[in-house]
Amino acid sequence: MAKFYVLIGPPGAGKGTQAKIIAEKYGLVHISSGDLFRENLKNETELGKLAQGFMARGELVPDDVTIGMVRDRISRPDCKNGALLDGFPRTPAQADALAVMLKEFDSKVELVPLIDVPAQTLIDRLSGRWSCRAQGHVFHEKFNPPQVAGICDIDGSELYQREDDQRSTVENRIKVYTQQTAPLIEYYQSRNLLVTVDGTKPIDEVSADLQAAIEKA
Ligand code: AP5
Ligand code: MG
Repeated sequence: MAKFYVLIGPPGAGKGTQAKIIAEKYGLVHISSGDLFRENLKNETELGKLAQGFMARGELVPDDVTIGMVRDRISRPDCKNGALLDGFPRTPAQADALAVMLKEFDSKVELVPLIDVPAQTLIDRLSGRWSCRAQGHVFHEKFNPPQVAGICDIDGSELYQREDDQRSTVENRIKVYTQQTAPLIEYYQSRNLLVTVDGTKPIDEVSADLQAAIEKA
């Protein structure tokens, strides 16, 4: 049966960083709803135009739009063995929709690791983050610097700073997380799917903790 994992955590917790490592290790497809929106924005699609204002303000894109986009992605043949979801679901309504769509594929969520990091650390991480244009690999000028400034170590593409990483937008994203996404902790705890990992540790230690949790599940 296909295996689906859901990484949750506040903005800057390290979801993208860890998803790349874990997806490669277990041969899973990495699906980041934020990366899908940014791809649509870059290609100037209708979906991208719709999402743009919400993203720039650090608000959530409406559930129906987000759910439709992820459903399309999960329906592609490369997800037949499962995927690692990063940044979706972000509301209980999205979590309900995910359960329904996975049921249609005769599957379910296996495990929901929460990467736990306090707010002040999130602000430091996002203000120093550099993201890769081609595939969304992430670096940090202090905590995980690329070998050559401005160039992705993995695919050689340009690194840039996300517009929504400016401080006022980051503060709003953290507020939105607390109000709209944090209820998922209780949602998945009550379904015995949640496992919490300390995201303040160095990147390789967080990866090791995540792998241990996945192998125990
Ligand atoms: P999205 O792109 O998902 O942003 P986010 O949740 O705010 O998360 P980030 O990508 O900012 O952080 P991350 O946890 O991936 O951290 P990273 O690994 O990069 O969403 C963007 C927007 O799209 C949303 O605001 C919303 O508008 C829209 N959207 C997306 N999904 C949606 C949904 N489901 N519903 C509605 N709207 C949606 O790491 C951060 C930095 O820290 C990096 O520099 C990294 O190098 C560094 N770092 C990572 N781990 C460590 C560590 N252990 N120690 C030190 N530094 C570390
Ligand atoms: Mg991310």
